[in-house]
Amino acid sequence: MSFIGADDINYNKIKDLEFLDKFVKETARLHPFAFTATPRRAIETVTLKCSDGTFLRIDKGTCILPNIPVISVDNNVWGKDATEFNPDRFLPENNGNRHPMAWLPFGAGPRICPGKNLAMHETKATIVKLLKEFKFEICNKTELNEITRSLTGFESLKMKILPRD
Ligand code: HEM
Repeated sequence: MSFIGADDINYNKIKDLEFLDKFVKETARLHPFAFTATPRRAIETVTLKCSDGTFLRIDKGTCILPNIPVISVDNNVWGKDATEFNPDRFLPENNGNRHPMAWLPFGAGPRICPGKNLAMHETKATIVKLLKEFKFEICNKTELNEITRSLTGFESLKMKILPRD
């Protein structure tokens, strides 16, 4: 990995940061904040096979909202360690058999978020910029089991943020 200087945070440098990419994907998997943005209306009646082997009939015209927070930690989709934070699950050798609609922070299909690549890039560039300027440390007020809420983010996130120089 090449060194990124203070004035050097650009698209090409950021796209080479493979671990950061996996880190952001894993964070988005466990904390998908736009999960109410993917409603669909069935254009015909369909019976779906669920990941646990049961069947679900959806009648034509029914509006459905995929339960993204639940799909994101479903053992049948992500394995036994589904609730653990592990960016390496996005390594190519671990990605292979995963359902193409397992990772849904930006939705999926023809209406997938068109800003996905921009948002991923901006998130990674912001993290790099912050890490270059500040150290983030847990302190005695930090709760390690943070609770997240849709759109409003963390309920509490108490940390020490210190300038690097
Ligand atoms: C972290 C940031 C973002 C997240 C998590 C996010 C997530 C989503 C999700 C879940 C959807 C619904 C997709 C679906 O129905 O399958 C969506 C749709 C959309 N997003 Fe994003 N988004 C983000 C950033 C952006 C940005 C930066 C833009 C534009 C520059 C953008 C533009 C749109 C538009 C226009 C749609 C509607 C697409 C359609 O209905 O065809 N989003 N987004």
